[in-house]
Amino acid sequence: MRIGILTSGGDCPGINATIRGVCKTAINHYGMEVYGIHSGFRGLLDDDIVPLTEADLTGLLNMGGTILGTSREKPFKKKGNSALSDDKPTMMLKTIERHQLDCIVTIGGNGTQKTAAKLADIGVNVVSIPKTIDNDVWGTDTSFGFDSAVTIATEAIDRLHSTASAHQRVMVIEVMGHKAGWIALYSGMAGGGDIILLPEIPFDIHRIGDTIINRLKKGKPYSIVVVAEGIPTLNGKKAAQFVAEEIAYETGFETRETVLGYIQRGGSPTAYDRNLATRMGGHATELIATGQFGRMVSLKGASISSVPLKDVAGKLKLVTEDHDLITQGRRMGVCFG
Ligand code: F6P
Repeated sequence: MRIGILTSGGDCPGINATIRGVCKTAINHYGMEVYGIHSGFRGLLDDDIVPLTEADLTGLLNMGGTILGTSREKPFKKKGNSALSDDKPTMMLKTIERHQLDCIVTIGGNGTQKTAAKLADIGVNVVSIPKTIDNDVWGTDTSFGFDSAVTIATEAIDRLHSTASAHQRVMVIEVMGHKAGWIALYSGMAGGGDIILLPEIPFDIHRIGDTIINRLKKGKPYSIVVVAEGIPTLNGKKAAQFVAEEIAYETGFETRETVLGYIQRGGSPTAYDRNLATRMGGHATELIATGQFGRMVSLKGASISSVPLKDVAGKLKLVTEDHDLITQGRRMGVCFG
């Protein structure tokens, strides 16, 4: 069999480990041929495809980014009356046919799963692997990249504690996550945040102010506030800026903000993410070898399985208020807004 592999959407730690997992298993175990498709779905439009050999697959386990490059190309999205975008599915089919690819492996987040489902709909054999720091892909307990992002954000929060305490300030740190609060919840709890704001839970700035004042009364004249980038704000302000200004107005405390940004996405994956990437990559080849197409590899409990792509497409996995970390956090006095 000849399989093509692409990475699409925002990068995250662990993509290269996944490429390695897919390709090494495909070559060594199943005797398949693998082809790297560059820059996500754009590579299928531009016919930017190269064979991958074992020599291309060394040193990938701990390498950040993606050796295949990525893009946010959405080939099924129609822009106005553009004939060109309407032709994109046909262009992709021709490229796949030209290279005689029996299956396309797509590694990506929510947008990618949607595109992968559409590619399967027009007759392509597709196997997909979830990838995102945001942890918001439906149908899998988690995806690689999340643990790495949480580890980086937790270390940043750890570092804010001492400077917050030294200056008796309120430190507001904004973490990524798009519309989901997973990174804020996990890093906020692991980093001992006093206030954690998620897009999924509405917040009341007066209650946040009260929490900070009550901490002062208990002899804690500083606070750590972890905010997800996706919380609602006013006047187009970024999450951290908005919350820091509101807290300063409400409490009179000196506040400072930190936006962690792309540091959460760059660099080496954690050991957990490397192993998850390896397992998911290997299982993807198993799906291909057994002819189970139109599916996304997923983690359920301790096991790797798969779900139909059509069930995943268009859905978002958000934090629910009954999450155990929220329950335990509230019991310990953490304010969630
Ligand atoms: O989906 C991953 C992510 O890093 C989000 O957390 C963030 O909102 C977004 O991508 C940033 O996107 P871009 O790479 O287009 O700036």
